[in-house]
Amino acid sequence: MSEQQSPVVDEHLSEAVIKASSGGDGALTGETLAQWMSANTGAIESATTVGELDAVRVSAVGKSGTITLALKKMHPEHRRELAPEINRAKAETENAIAQRKTVLESAALEARLVAETIDLSLPAPTKPKGSVHPVSQVMDELAEIFADMGFAVASGPEIEDDWHNFTALNMPDSHPARAMHDTFYFPDRDAEDREMLLRTHTSPVQIRTMLEQGAPLRIIAPGRVYRSDSDATHTPMFHQIEGLVIDKGIHLGHLKWTLETLLKAFFERDDIVLRLRPSYFPFTEPSVEVDTGFSFIDGRRVVGGSGDEPGHQWMELLGSGMVNRNVLAAGGLDPDEWQGFAFGVGVDRLAMLKYGMNDLRAFFDGDVRWLSHYGFSALDVPTLSGGVGTPVGSGA
Ligand code: DAH
Repeated sequence: MSEQQSPVVDEHLSEAVIKASSGGDGALTGETLAQWMSANTGAIESATTVGELDAVRVSAVGKSGTITLALKKMHPEHRRELAPEINRAKAETENAIAQRKTVLESAALEARLVAETIDLSLPAPTKPKGSVHPVSQVMDELAEIFADMGFAVASGPEIEDDWHNFTALNMPDSHPARAMHDTFYFPDRDAEDREMLLRTHTSPVQIRTMLEQGAPLRIIAPGRVYRSDSDATHTPMFHQIEGLVIDKGIHLGHLKWTLETLLKAFFERDDIVLRLRPSYFPFTEPSVEVDTGFSFIDGRRVVGGSGDEPGHQWMELLGSGMVNRNVLAAGGLDPDEWQGFAFGVGVDRLAMLKYGMNDLRAFFDGDVRWLSHYGFSALDVPTLSGGVGTPVGSGA
């Protein structure tokens, strides 16, 4: 800001001072000086920042300020006469400026301190909490429901050998059903010279558990399985839960009751209707495919009712049957003494049905937006009394 444009110095007064001091129009009197002083005082008091105050200083007492110019242009005689008074006025002005500067500086510091204060009472920034993947949640829910029916959880390796995965399950080397389970083989064989592969289903856990624990048995085996398949409804890795009950006098009625009880608890509704359809699996005889009735509500599949009701359809849910005699024998059990039923169900499909997801691939994309939409709170441990699933953010 140049001194001519300074808003804080009275231009007329400056001119008067200069004129008077140059001896033209009369003398620079004490009165004119007093006016100059009071204009300065006003300007100093009304400066609200150090910058504004400095502009006042430059125009009043600066090197080319009013008073310096006046002194320069003054007749030497006048100057000698008035110098003490002018210098006093100048010194007073400089003093007032310095005092005002201290006030403004401490006010500025005060304002900064207030502005930069850290308010410790604010809540800490939120950290992403993480959530339980729907597949894990559904496995936990199913384990909870089965536990209530007296089932224990068994497990087996994901890198399985050819014998447990196929042969012991009544699928010898040349069996055509092996083709439906195209999977990933390893170049190396195990100690017993068996071919190694990524298990294609959880059924080998049946064999392992029979061999390890004998009969009677009531187990489920949840876990990952692998097939060389990939589209909207198939991923190369997916999840199954195997079920196996071995006891005396076990029949298809036990199987149907168990599955009905399971699905009623899982889908949290009483109107589950199952249809057992004859099918074929090498490891069961007879084999049944279990279908459940459903209808479309707002474009979503909703399980419930009979598939034969108007507006309803049947949907294949899982494979099951009575354990084949050859499988019992491979598991070290006498088929004339023990009977059993088994089933295998896709966990991802059950999750899709219960929680309304439509693309299986999204389950394994690792997109946290999907997970925060469908995931479950880590605190939401499934219990039969407290409900078995409440998605994160559902507000329930
Ligand atoms: N293992 C079969 C599959 O992955 C599913 C299955 C069918 C399991 C019938 C069973 C069963 O235990 O009895 O396709």
